[in-house]
Amino acid sequence: MTEFRYHKTGLFYGQISEEAKKLGVDELKELGAQEIQQDYRGMHFHADMVTLFKIVYCSRLFSRFLAPLHRFDALSEDMLYQRVKTMKWEEIIKPGQTFAIFANVGNSKINHSKFAAQKMKDAICDRLREKRGERPDIDPKNPDIWLNLFINKNKATIALDLSGGSHHKRGYRQDSVEAPLMESLAAAFIRASEWDGRTPLYDPMCGSGTILAEALMHAARIPAGYLRKRFGFEHMPDFDADIWSEVKAKADARIKLPQEGLISGSDMDADAVRASIVNLSYLPGGDKIKIIQSRFQDLDDLEPCTIITNPPYGMRLMKDEDVESFTGEIGDFLKKKCAGSNAWVFFGERKLILKIGLRPSRKFPLSNGGLDGRLCKFEMYRGNKWT
Ligand SMILES: C[S@@+](CC[C@H](N)C(=O)[O-])C[C@H]1O[C@@H](n2cnc3c(N)ncnc32)[C@H](O)[C@@H]1O
Repeated sequence: MTEFRYHKTGLFYGQISEEAKKLGVDELKELGAQEIQQDYRGMHFHADMVTLFKIVYCSRLFSRFLAPLHRFDALSEDMLYQRVKTMKWEEIIKPGQTFAIFANVGNSKINHSKFAAQKMKDAICDRLREKRGERPDIDPKNPDIWLNLFINKNKATIALDLSGGSHHKRGYRQDSVEAPLMESLAAAFIRASEWDGRTPLYDPMCGSGTILAEALMHAARIPAGYLRKRFGFEHMPDFDADIWSEVKAKADARIKLPQEGLISGSDMDADAVRASIVNLSYLPGGDKIKIIQSRFQDLDDLEPCTIITNPPYGMRLMKDEDVESFTGEIGDFLKKKCAGSNAWVFFGERKLILKIGLRPSRKFPLSNGGLDGRLCKFEMYRGNKWT
């Protein structure tokens, strides 16, 4: 078997947003990664196979995990083609399997991701046709094997995607509403809030239920990949199915269903409530999450709890003044009905923080779809400092 780059270095790579890196380091350490070295938009780490499978199966915060296969100079598309063609793809792509390439290039003579991906694809197909007499099929949406090409400063790194595309997708989002949160971002909210998973948590604008689902996964210790049918690491040339089934069995055995009433939420929109109930039903313990239809303004006083929510911030048909006064209403709700709670509110628009009428005790920068957002903590004392 060829000695690929990750065999030589023992290093794998996890991709994560710049702001979530600190949370990501903590998560990787908890899952057993060693010698974590931060890099731009991610980190390298050492892991043996048991630890690697556990990381890919359980990590909630990362967007991608990669096993580097080759690294080489790529000063032109032709050079890229020639180098890729010498690589033993027959050890990775088996007859009948499909593949796709995700490419990202920067600061290099090769400056077009799509063309670079095309060249790499041609080289792989040409090699396999010469070796086997048939070209593999490309499936850009749902391939068996996801390959990653990263070219920076004329150095190319080719890697196998270990989750098998979109690590953040858990599989529970079967129904959605406008502007759902990315699962890994909701998981970052839960982690940043330091919620203990034992005291009640509430989302008063739950949309399709992403925060509630991530809270459930955290509290019930449901692995992030629990609903995923297949993983990219199954295509590692040294994949060991026995190790993987042991890792999976051990992680699944830790699942502990939450008590009724631990996690709950509401939304004013009936479709959102329906979507949340459907989505949560895919997770163990999802039936224990209570979701009702209500405007937050009409809710009764909440028992002291952790509130985590992602209000709308640029709703269609809502003028700026309306969004500002709506944000003020969230502040009033927290002051009047949430005494004794800690509230974490995500603001996609930073200027709205001032409009809530409360002083945040913490601010956590987290971007959402390119927007520079802030997760803010408001401590709602009983009694109280605010009233
Ligand atoms: C940005 S979305 C939340 C998305 C959610 N985190 C998800 O991942 O699907 C904001 C939600 O707030 C709800 N909403 C807006 N005004 C509300 C109000 N006054 N009371 C309760 N919910 C409200 C909307 O119906 C929408 O579902």
